[in-house]
This record gives sequence, structure tokens and C-alpha cells, in this order.
Amino acid sequence: MPRPTLLQTRSLPPAVEARAARDYEVRRPEGPDRALEPAALLQAAEGCDGILCAAGDGLDAATIGALPASVRVIATFSVGTDHIALDAARARGIAVTNTPEVLSVATAEIAMLLVLMCARRAGEAERLLRAREWTGWAPTQLMGVTLEGKRLGILGMGRIGQELARMARGMGMRIHYRNRSRLPPEEEQGATYHAEDSGFLAACDVLSMHIPGGEATRHWLDAAAIATLPRGAIVVNTGRGTTVDDAALCAALASGHLRAAGLDVFAGEPAIFEGYHRAPNVTLLPHLGSATVETRDAMGFRCLDNLDALLLHGAEPPHRAA
Ligand code: DGY
Repeated sequence: MPRPTLLQTRSLPPAVEARAARDYEVRRPEGPDRALEPAALLQAAEGCDGILCAAGDGLDAATIGALPASVRVIATFSVGTDHIALDAARARGIAVTNTPEVLSVATAEIAMLLVLMCARRAGEAERLLRAREWTGWAPTQLMGVTLEGKRLGILGMGRIGQELARMARGMGMRIHYRNRSRLPPEEEQGATYHAEDSGFLAACDVLSMHIPGGEATRHWLDAAAIATLPRGAIVVNTGRGTTVDDAALCAALASGHLRAAGLDVFAGEPAIFEGYHRAPNVTLLPHLGSATVETRDAMGFRCLDNLDALLLHGAEPPHRAA
């Protein structure tokens, strides 16, 4: 039997590439390791049975509509699926799979890293040293805030949010959360549930955002929501950049209403809203949430488990998103 042909849009960890090459005819477009534009993707997908893509690859409705009939599955190397027009894939009968669970701890670690960096002004402090401008220890220099006893508001209490809550409890923070629905007590673990945005926002000394991208969540954190946060609050986002109104966030950071922000995700990546470059109280990371060796291997294997189910065994994939 001929092996199925797989379009692999990005470089993947060596163990993942080795397993893919064992079971598939793998096609890798030439050129730099960057997200594929629709035209290049369509050209490369000619004759393929499956596409192993990643966040940033442009799989909008028009592109999906124009995919060759041979494509039966799109496996994304991400938990997020906002770069794929799921309805268009459903309409074409193309399965879409993703990689939930395996990246929850790694992403929560990056959220906690940003919370700590913001609270303790670690980015500013590091830049001071690198600029060779440190003049020595001083009692009032670069004072941050203690996290113990502060309220951490988690927007989106899925697996990543729950991992962050576990870490923050260990640091003595009090957990509040806003979610589509209230968690059962064994998962809630004493966290305070908010059924309304305004009460939730008012209870956040630190807000950590973990909601998906897409039209429904666009600019969830807008000027009005920011104004509801207590003065001096910290905002951290490791979900999707589109959920934040960048201009409103920059304005609140400049006015002092917000103490600091920590961002791992941006609307229009890899471009970054210009105001962030000028804001001293913003910590910026290049979408590192899931970037650990262990997690990226696990994400790759999960992609292949999904592809194998459909293309090798004619079975339902373990992680179908559409
Ligand atoms: C995810 O898995 O969605 C991460 O944000 C990487 O895209």
C-alpha cells in the first residue's frame, strides 16, 4: 500500500520528524521556517492526504475551500485553532485536530513567569544591567509588589488556567476566576467563581488571560474592562493577542492605572503593536508558552496520533477540533 502523503509546513522536533518520515511521504516546502502564505500552502498541498500545520499558517475559509480534494485532515501543532476556518473545514468534510492537555503546564509556567516578572520588575531590572547603568543597591530602587496574599484573576479556567491556579496557590495567592461555567468543587479548589465580567475584573490584583482567539473574544480586554481593574493591577496574556485592545492597554500602562503587563502573544504576530516597544513596564516574550523540549515533542506525537488514526487506521482521531 502506498504511504499517505503529508504536507508538513514547519520544522518539528527531530523525534517527531523521524516518526513522521517512518509512516508518511513527507513534503516540506523549501525556504525559511515561517508560517506559509495561502498561495504557497495550496501549491504545496497538491496531492497530499493530510496537512500538519502550526499557528500562523493561513488556513482561512478561502484557502480551505481551494484545498485539493485529496486532503482529508488538517492536524495543527497547537491547542489553538483560531488560524483555521473550522466551519469551512467541516463543510469540505476535512477533519481538523489539535493538541490539548500536553502543553498546559508549560504554558502555565510562562504565565507565572510573566506574573513574577511584572510584579518584581525583572524586565526593567535586567535592561538596567545590560545598559550598564546600575549604580548599586539602593533602598528604594525598582520596588515591585509582593504576590503573597494578592488576588489572581484567571480568565478562562481550562486546563492551563487550572495549572496556573495550582502554582499560584503555592505562592499564597487567592484565586478568582471567570469561565463559561462554574467548575465542580474538586476542580475549583476554593477559588472564587464570578458569573459577571465586572465583578471579576474588580477582584483582580493580577489578571491572567487564557481565552481562545477569534471574533467572539476580540478585544475582550478593552478600555472599559481595563478601567474596571483596580488601580495598580497587572495584566498577563498567554492566550491570544487578539483578545486585548493594544492601544487601550498601552494607554493604561502609560497613565499608571495599570502597574505592568506581561505578553507572550500578539495580534498579527510576529508584528508587535508599536506602543509596547516604548513602554518600560511591559514584559514581552515571543510566544514561548509551549516551548519546552518535552512539550513540543508531546505536541508533535499528538499530531501524529491524530493523523495516524485517520490516515493509517481509518479511525476517529483522539483530538478532533472539527
Ligand atoms: C497553541 O498551542 O495554541 C500555542 O499558542 C501555540 O500556537
